[in-house]
Amino acid sequence: MIETGVDHATVMRGGVEPGSTMALEQDNVETAQGDRPCRGQPHDATTDDSNHAAPYAIVIFRMATSGTKRALITGITGQDGSYLAELLLSEGYEVFGLTRRLSASNYWRIEHILDRVTLIPGDLLDQLSLIRVLDRVRPHELYNLAAMSFVPASWDQPMLTGEFNAQGVTRVLEAVRHVDPSIRIYQASSSEMFGRVREVPQRESTPFYPRSPYGVTKAFGHYITINYRESYNLFAVSGILFNHESPRRGLEFVTRKVTDGVAKIKLGLADSLSLGNLDAHRDWGFAGDYVRAMWLMLQQDAPDDYVIATGEAHSVKELVEIAFGHAGLDWERYVKLDPAFIRPAEVDHLIGDASKAKTELGWSPTVTFNGLVTMMVDADLKRLGQRP
Ligand code: NAP
Ligand code: GDD
Repeated sequence: MIETGVDHATVMRGGVEPGSTMALEQDNVETAQGDRPCRGQPHDATTDDSNHAAPYAIVIFRMATSGTKRALITGITGQDGSYLAELLLSEGYEVFGLTRRLSASNYWRIEHILDRVTLIPGDLLDQLSLIRVLDRVRPHELYNLAAMSFVPASWDQPMLTGEFNAQGVTRVLEAVRHVDPSIRIYQASSSEMFGRVREVPQRESTPFYPRSPYGVTKAFGHYITINYRESYNLFAVSGILFNHESPRRGLEFVTRKVTDGVAKIKLGLADSLSLGNLDAHRDWGFAGDYVRAMWLMLQQDAPDDYVIATGEAHSVKELVEIAFGHAGLDWERYVKLDPAFIRPAEVDHLIGDASKAKTELGWSPTVTFNGLVTMMVDADLKRLGQRP
């Protein structure tokens, strides 16, 4: 269900994990509402609610009368939002997603569940929209995943990154405080905050030393979440998640860039792949595992912050070797180094210690690094192999 001004909504299809029925081409665009049942009437986000009293009355009546738990996800169209929505649906939640207006809709990651989630317009930049959405949905749990998440872009647009990732978090917390302080909040913090690491491995108590505007804004989001928990007694938690990937990862991030590049080379659609720093190390896990940790954090008796990581670090070079090797290719023939992909300041080596999450949440990862990379290569080979 889409409660947005999307009477001409489009579904942009762009990639999916193995086994999904989703079509896979970004240039394969079709109308969303032609595809699936849609309750309620589409409306323009800028118009007065009174024009839409009937559909909202139905939604609110259903909320008031059902004992079902409701969750609101900001960033539902992103990698993590899509996996989290699937998890919450499987746990019996009624799932709502805050989506911002784009000139072309970006629903390819949630296309397969669009008939089971309700999308409502709003933007982290717009305080009133957040208050309106919370007032309408009255969720039990709010997962704030929306962000400008691509680190290099934060040097290009540092101010906007701060509006999304720092003040955006404050707006979400303010909305909760004013609408219903009993809403439980998950904030998406990041291992990028550790930056030039002060301790190896990194744990909850490790001091931050962010190395990008993105990392700095995430540190603000982290601390303002803790501050609102302590100032207003909110059930607000921060998950300090290390890199997590999947076939739904954006194409600009290094794992997906590599697996997509390998598939293109294997299928004769490209003859090389340009990369930056091959020596950087990351603690990479599978996104499907990591959203389970988010949910577990909100099921605890008391709010707290947790590191979520595999405890294993690998270099970009190892990633490249495994991905090309899985497709039977010699990476040294195809990979070119391009200084354009070197960052003004780099995070050299991240490795997390998730023992607190293991002990207190009972969380542990299920997908190995090798399994993750080969899963992603296979998904990209399948997706690109299906091109007409
Ligand atoms: P992603 O795929 O880039 O998704 C970001 C989401 O945020 C998209 O749904 C995007 O919507 C939405 N968004 C961006 N700006 C918005 C705004 N102003 N108002 C409303 N929505 C907005 O990111 P992800 O990998 O799923 O990551 C989820 C969260 O975890 C992010 O906060 C990220 O910083 C954090 N994190 C990620 C990782 C990781 O390795 N993936 C690790 C640590 C922390 P559109 O579709 O409209 O662009
Ligand atoms: N993107 C990219 N492209 N990265 C490259 C490339 C390239 O061509 N070549 C080398 N790298 C290196 C980067 O320099 C970095 O050290 C590493 O690969 C990982 O880069 P990304 O995949 O872009 O991820 P990230 O670590 O910068 O950020 C991700 O993880 C954070 C958690 O630590 C994002 O998901 C952030 O949103 C998240 O918070």
